[in-house]
Amino acid sequence: MKSYIIANWKMNPPSLSHAYKLWEGYKLSSLPTSVEVVICPPDIFLPSLINEFKSECSWGGQNCFWETSGAYTGEISPQQLRTLGAQYVILGHSERREHLGETDEMINKKFRAALAARLKPILCVGGGREAKSPGADSRAIARRQLTKALKAVTPSAIRRERLLIAYEPPWALSTISGGRPAPVEYAVAVARSIREWLVKKYASAGKAIPVLYGGSINSQTAGNFRKQKEFSGFLVGGASLKPIEFRKILES
Ligand code: PGA
Repeated sequence: MKSYIIANWKMNPPSLSHAYKLWEGYKLSSLPTSVEVVICPPDIFLPSLINEFKSECSWGGQNCFWETSGAYTGEISPQQLRTLGAQYVILGHSERREHLGETDEMINKKFRAALAARLKPILCVGGGREAKSPGADSRAIARRQLTKALKAVTPSAIRRERLLIAYEPPWALSTISGGRPAPVEYAVAVARSIREWLVKKYASAGKAIPVLYGGSINSQTAGNFRKQKEFSGFLVGGASLKPIEFRKILES
C-alpha cells in the first residue's frame, strides 16, 4: 500500500508569498512515487499554488459544503474545489466538529457530495466534544462516527483509493497536547478497530482503505508511528508549517 502524508495548513500562513515560501521549503521533487504528498492550504491560496507547482504533489481543501451551488454564504462546493484543481478534501476534522458544531449527519452529506464531485475525502474520525480526553472510548467513538459518516456509501463508491481515513484524537493535537501524540499502542488499537469496521462493511474494498494517524506528528514522533503496519501515513498540522520538520517527516 502507498503512504500518504497530508499537510493540513489550517488557517495559515498569513499571505500568498508566505505560502510560496512554505511550499518551496518542502523540496518535494526527490520523493519516491510510493509516497503521495497532499497539501491542504486555505482555499484562497489553492489556485496560485496549483498554477505554480501543480504536478509536484496532490492538493486538497480543508472542507466543502454538500450542495453544488446556491444561497450558502461563505461555503465552497466540492465542484468548486475540483475546478480550483483539488483532488482531495479533508472532512470531519475535530476542529470543525468542536468549533463549528459539525455533526456526523452534516459530514455524511459532505462526504457523499465530495464523492459525487470526484474528490477523494480524507475522513477524520475520533474527534469532537465527546472525545476530549484519553479516557474516552475512542474505538467506540470512531466506529460510531464511521457508521454515520459512511451511511448510504456503497463499496463501489469508495473503491480504488477514493477514501482515506484519519484517526485524530483531539487531545493529541499539537495545539492542545503541547506536542504529545497519542500513545502508539492506543492509536494502533483504535486503527485496528477502524479496520475491522471497514472490512465488516466493505469486505475486500475495506481492506484497501488507507488509515492515517494525525496528532502531534513531527520529526521526533513520526518514527514510532511509521513502524506500525496499521497506519499508511500521517495527517500533519503544526509541523507542516515548518518546512525542515516536514521534510524530515517525509524522509522518515
Ligand atoms: P497537529 O494537527 O499535527 O498540529 O497535531 C493534526 C491535525 O490537524 O489533525
